[in-house]
Amino acid sequence: MNMPAAKRTASKARLHHALVTGGVGFMGSHLTKELVRRGLEVTVLDNLSSGPRADSIRILASKGRVTLVRGDCTSSRDVSKALQGVDTVFHLAANPEVRLELNDMENCFRQNVLATHVVLQCASGTSVKDFVFSSSSTVYGEPKVLPTPEDYGPLLPISAYGASKLASEALVSSHCSSLGMNGVILRIANVVGPGSTHGVVYDLAKKLRANPHELELLGDGTQSKSYLFIDDCIDGLMAAVTRSGPGVSLYNLGGSDQVQVSEIARIVVQKSGLQNVQVKYTGGVDGGRGWMGDVKTMLLDATKITKLGWSPKLNSRQAVERMAESLFRGASVPSKRNRGQ
Ligand SMILES: NC(=O)c1ccc[n+]([C@@H]2O[C@H](COP(=O)([O-])OP(=O)(O)OC[C@H]3O[C@@H](n4cnc5c(N)ncnc54)[C@H](O)[C@@H]3O)[C@@H](O)[C@H]2O)c1
Repeated sequence: MNMPAAKRTASKARLHHALVTGGVGFMGSHLTKELVRRGLEVTVLDNLSSGPRADSIRILASKGRVTLVRGDCTSSRDVSKALQGVDTVFHLAANPEVRLELNDMENCFRQNVLATHVVLQCASGTSVKDFVFSSSSTVYGEPKVLPTPEDYGPLLPISAYGASKLASEALVSSHCSSLGMNGVILRIANVVGPGSTHGVVYDLAKKLRANPHELELLGDGTQSKSYLFIDDCIDGLMAAVTRSGPGVSLYNLGGSDQVQVSEIARIVVQKSGLQNVQVKYTGGVDGGRGWMGDVKTMLLDATKITKLGWSPKLNSRQAVERMAESLFRGASVPSKRNRGQ
């Protein structure tokens, strides 16, 4: 991660025009709104592959606050078009699905690794000075040290998704080091909050809507992970990009506690208002995992990013509760007539 000092520029003063790839998605749309709130010019590049969720971004675009480019990160033409005048790239576009049966190796490579390569390649030699990448706790695989610090190794991911994030980190590091951009890599815990359309809280709520009597949990329920509320995640991204020094910086981004999946099920049922829901465990695979590639316990050591002045306002449990509330707020929860007796 050494590069000529003259080429490096500290981030702070640079944030005027940002490109958010995947800016229509869950994290991207929250980030875009925050950047607009801070008075930045924002371009969003998204292929809308995760569904027609562009409404909030379209409203910002119609007010002239955001430029929405519908395009694909694997296309250098689309990326170059979106990069016009940009000084900071937040590369969030990816297929975020960890389950292998829903996201195979080929898909992970194209949407996560190839896309990152193309965005980096197009950004180099342009006005871009800072490149922020949303990596994941899954790069650690099953670490023997918990909470896991950034310098833990060897990094042996157990999912195609984790592998694609680790490969992308290497690309960010090498491109930024050799081509004169500052890089910020964030290994992020599970993020929850309004607008999320994947992950355990969303899945359980969806299942409850389909069957208000019974809730199936993948695995043995003892999987224990750390959850971060979306507002805390965006604060972390902003702290990292505005307060990091020059060069390539790497941070864990997560809280200091965990919640078990069985407890998440209890929270989701409670927030749904349903009664007498029978919770069933599939038992899972390979010692109680929800699926092959499911990391059973995850907790990040976030000491490094807290030194930049960041800390989460909500703990894991509160974050899960807030997301579950948002999923059932005003939702068409089955009527009392249909509820379990
Ligand atoms: N949500 C989490 O818990 C979490 C945790 C750690 C890291 N991350 C990472 O953060 C990023 C955002 O995650 P999210 O939860 O908001 O996902 P999301 O699916 O809600 O958003 C991703 C967006 O990227 C777009 N996209 C996908 N492939 C694209 C491509 N090739 N070109 C252009 N657009 C493309 C999708 O249409 C979508 O709008 C991802 O990189 C994800 O891997 C997420």
